[in-house]
Amino acid sequence: MISIPSSRKCDFPQLTQNMNNKPLVYLDSGATTPKPQFVIDRITKFNTFEISNVHRGAYTLSDNATNLYEQAREKVAQFIDAKSSQEIVFTRGTTESINLIATALEHLEGFLIEGDEITITEMEHHGNLVPWQILAERKKLKLNYIPIHEDGTLDLSQISRFINSKVKILAITHASNHVGTINDIESIAKLARKFDTCIVVDGAQAVGKFPVSVQSLDVDFYVFSGHKMFAPFGIGVLFGKSEWLNKLPPYQYGGSMISRVTFEHTTFNVVPYKFEAGTPNVEGAIGLHAAITYIELLGWDWILNHQAQLKKLAFEKLNEISTLQWVGSNMNHRTSLFSFNLKGLHHSDVGQLLNMQGIAVRVGHHCTQPLLTKYNLTGSIRASFSIYNEFQDIDSLVQGLNKAQEMLT
Ligand code: ALA
Repeated sequence: MISIPSSRKCDFPQLTQNMNNKPLVYLDSGATTPKPQFVIDRITKFNTFEISNVHRGAYTLSDNATNLYEQAREKVAQFIDAKSSQEIVFTRGTTESINLIATALEHLEGFLIEGDEITITEMEHHGNLVPWQILAERKKLKLNYIPIHEDGTLDLSQISRFINSKVKILAITHASNHVGTINDIESIAKLARKFDTCIVVDGAQAVGKFPVSVQSLDVDFYVFSGHKMFAPFGIGVLFGKSEWLNKLPPYQYGGSMISRVTFEHTTFNVVPYKFEAGTPNVEGAIGLHAAITYIELLGWDWILNHQAQLKKLAFEKLNEISTLQWVGSNMNHRTSLFSFNLKGLHHSDVGQLLNMQGIAVRVGHHCTQPLLTKYNLTGSIRASFSIYNEFQDIDSLVQGLNKAQEMLT
């Protein structure tokens, strides 16, 4: 039985360094997570001893790399409770996964006709907004936005305007990258199922933070990125129900995604390989496998409990700052990611002063410009916590904000 300390900072070498002569307080996990030694070691082992391309070689190293790559697919399938690893496509990340789905749906014969509708929400990241906006423009579709309340939760009071027989696609985030809200995907998907709407969920801020079962959610597509859950950059996942993946046309063309090529014609490979043209990110997939193993070693009980404590304490302590103005103040259904401004101060100035104190937060529009327009803001300060944050990181943030306030007013 391993004993779990009050945070996992000790597992993350990056977090042991000083920044601007102060101990680094990393509060930008919504953007990306540092990697634990466990994942670094696994990738190093692959790069040192196991490098080979997959699916082609007639030698042991290639067989081994192929097995590792396919085992990673199995691991992902099991982690998000997919029915089969054939429902898991490896991509570069969330954004590529959504572009793949949008492009494939655009070219799916007979699926979209002029006047059809797509529904997304006002809290979407640009990655789950722009691809649908472009698709709507190209196919002359109407794009609806489910509105957001001041507190950062969705306003579902007029949901029948947004989910009905005209709506062919519903694309929605599981957890917001700007206001932190966790949406009730299961209930919303149940409504959309009545109309045979294709349901796409952006899980970039959800996977790795709490357990996700794509079967319980009963959605058609679910996408996420490895780098936000302790895995390397450049590896992402597209889960798609088999019936959808089988009928969608490929996204890119080339090696690996083919079955037979003649000078005149090409037939395509089966799913998921049909969507994985070219050499895949083998190292990334193996790193993602290790990241999932790391999460499993910690266990959901510890992860959920630690994040709940961080969330509660951060909310309480930030609330004590009298000049703090929340961007999404709902506390009930949210991750440990908080956005706010300090009255009268520019978010960039505050970010710079926090940086001088070794505190890493994100400032700006957080790739949700329409949401900011709705809130009548130009940006915000975002502090996002993860398993490696300690309770004293919250004190450091509050002290840092108070100091910034003093210096700027
Ligand atoms: N999507 C990332 C974020 O929200 C970059 O910070």
